[in-house]
Amino acid sequence: MKPAELLDKLWRDYVASTPQAERIHHLLTERGEIIRNDHVALRTFGSVGIGIDALARPFEALGWRARDHYRFADKHLRARYWQHDDEALPKVFISELVLAELSPTARSVVAGLVDQLPLDFGARPDLPTAGRPWMVTYSEYQTLLAESEYAAWVAAFGFRVNHFTVDVGTLSTFPDLEALDAFLVEHGFMLNESGGVVKGSPSERLEQSSTLADSIDVQFADRTVRIPSCYYEFARRYPLPSGELFQGFVPASADKIFESTDARR
Ligand code: NI
Repeated sequence: MKPAELLDKLWRDYVASTPQAERIHHLLTERGEIIRNDHVALRTFGSVGIGIDALARPFEALGWRARDHYRFADKHLRARYWQHDDEALPKVFISELVLAELSPTARSVVAGLVDQLPLDFGARPDLPTAGRPWMVTYSEYQTLLAESEYAAWVAAFGFRVNHFTVDVGTLSTFPDLEALDAFLVEHGFMLNESGGVVKGSPSERLEQSSTLADSIDVQFADRTVRIPSCYYEFARRYPLPSGELFQGFVPASADKIFESTDARR
């Protein structure tokens, strides 16, 4: 498999549960934009064999290289990103939930899901698009949601892209992120306003905004419920004093972006 094939597979899987991303993509291409992605983001549980390292393996096999680590203490997450030598390819941002920091109740729900996995599940080469590999009831989802929106999302959606992120700096018809955000609002999309629509600043070298996640019908073991799925993100990067564009992430901003899938808002 080539990187472009993997990205295409991730994109098709993502828009299947995030129709707004395809509509926005279409609106932008209609304006003549050629869309480049800044990064794709994936989530998992920090359990043995299916954590960050396991999700990264299929990307590393195609040439992505590990970069910085991040810690999101409030959300109980660890994260890292990967970058490819081909600058046209998006970075890959992978986070995992630190289970030791959850309550015994939430931990036992997650253990009940992970215990359903066959041995070596995490070694699947198609892990990033494996989907939800366990049975989960709506009450288990709600138990997790009460404590960690992230845990509930992974329980409901499993292994798939959480969001794609448009590289705003490569767009030609929008001078800045505010202009793009205004365009999206004009076309009826709802943006995540937690911490302000634009997170970050030029001095932090990164500005980001995102839509609020689409809601879709999800089949739980006992019933079907409409819950938030995935969102679409937009990032504008600024140069470092060296003149090179900053390629990392800003934890305080990412922390607020994580709330774009929050079913509790
Ligand atoms: Ni992101």
